Amino acid sequence: GIKIVTIGGGSSYTPELVEGLIQYYDELPVRELWLVDIPEGKEKLEIVGNLAKRMVKKAGVPMNIHLTLDRRAALEDADFVTTQIRVGQLDARIIDESIPLKYGMIGQETNGAGGLFKGLRTIPIILEITKDMAELCPKAWLINFTNPAGMLTEAVLRYGKIKKVIGLCNVPIGMEMTIANMLEVDSSRIHVEFAGLNHMVFGTHVYLDGMEVTAQVLDLLGSGKVSMTMKNIIGLDWDRDFLKALKIIPCPYHRYYYKHKEMLEHELEELKKTGTRGAAVKQIEKELFEVYKDPDLAVKPSQLENRGGAYYSYAACRLIRSIYNDKRDIQPVNVRNNGAIIGLPEGAAVEVSCMITKDGPKPLAVGELPVAVRGLVQQIKSFEQLAVEAAVTGDYHLALLAMTIHPLVTSDVIGKKILNEMLEAHKKYLPQF
Ligand code: NAD
Ligand code: G6P
Ligand code: MN
Ligand code: MN
Repeated sequence: GIKIVTIGGGSSYTPELVEGLIQYYDELPVRELWLVDIPEGKEKLEIVGNLAKRMVKKAGVPMNIHLTLDRRAALEDADFVTTQIRVGQLDARIIDESIPLKYGMIGQETNGAGGLFKGLRTIPIILEITKDMAELCPKAWLINFTNPAGMLTEAVLRYGKIKKVIGLCNVPIGMEMTIANMLEVDSSRIHVEFAGLNHMVFGTHVYLDGMEVTAQVLDLLGSGKVSMTMKNIIGLDWDRDFLKALKIIPCPYHRYYYKHKEMLEHELEELKKTGTRGAAVKQIEKELFEVYKDPDLAVKPSQLENRGGAYYSYAACRLIRSIYNDKRDIQPVNVRNNGAIIGLPEGAAVEVSCMITKDGPKPLAVGELPVAVRGLVQQIKSFEQLAVEAAVTGDYHLALLAMTIHPLVTSDVIGKKILNEMLEAHKKYLPQF
């Protein structure tokens, strides 16, 4: 049997993961699932863990679920380790979203100044986790869902004590599902080739039954009749001619770059109405956990669909399934570039379609990115590299550099003010600075 350890087990997404593991049990016999959290998350861990136990019992699957605050005890002899942690909890997210916004910059948990700080807080912890893994389960795969997932994968590839790391995001699957819905066909008939970085990924080619339909999909996306987005991003329409010119499919997060002005205006309006997305998530979570507490509940409740992480468990389970069974199917994940995308460093983490084998994901050759997007992707990669260096060294000037070169931070002087205020606000979680 397989042993999976999920760090950040108190996450409201855990029932989704457990539902997936139950569905995949025949192909992926997980006998042990260890849910790990920290003292701040103890109550959530217990509520979610008890629901998970009811779910496997109801499904009649022989999976043992363990709840613990002792990460090292859990990691021993694990086969797969998944991470879904939020360092500083939702209050830190709200800070990431609101300080930049106060200075007129996008406030987003994985992009711009917010993404930088989420990375600075989280990279030291993920590197500690790799130390424990090297000691306690050196053969295990680390499947990291924690954001910023691309930057964290880069950090582990460059500084981690293990090499078997995969960054996972639900954006590519979400795009594929939306395309299938738009074309009114089953998603099994759709194949999308992906290339770029996490939350900066493009669908470069779309195939329906093996025939390329990229231009039709772009036209539909520009028609204003359908929108491709995630629950956490407003689905503002793309300009039809812009998409026609771009020739590849942007991801929902590209709106922060190509619709910068509109997205900033929207964020400022939302701030007045309901607060940042983090504040909205706090409310959704409160309601979710009330539902999770119900001792008669033994399935994943529908309210979870209000979170941005739709299809997360599908993505995680099919990835683990394909590694375990050496499936050699194609899935988009974050891995070491190894030359797949020309123009990005060999050692950089990229989000790209890969063949999933028992030895991990093998990125498919992309070649050069189209000239229209190459510069932006390279710039974000430079930002991520500097952010990783800043997180590891605690060097103020590297952090300032990462902040200021980010395309969503449009002033050196204001960037520095945001940096200083955020360093102070997050002091407790930034011991390296
Ligand atoms: P959450 O606020 O529920 O946090 C999950 C758990 O992590 C909490 O119970 C918390 O106590 C715990 N935690 C915090 N620090 C920890 C540590 N050092 N060790 C162990 N546990 C720790 O968060 P969530 O909304 O479920 O999201 C979890 C993470 O997943 C976030 O980083 C989020 O950005 C990310 N996420 C990623 C994607 C993706 O596409 N990759 C999608 C959704 C969420
Ligand atoms: C999307 C992204 C995640 C992101 C999440 C936010 O699905 O892929 O990386 O963290 O949504 O969702 P939330 O409900 O927390 O705002
Ligand atoms: Mn994501
Ligand atoms: Mn310095």
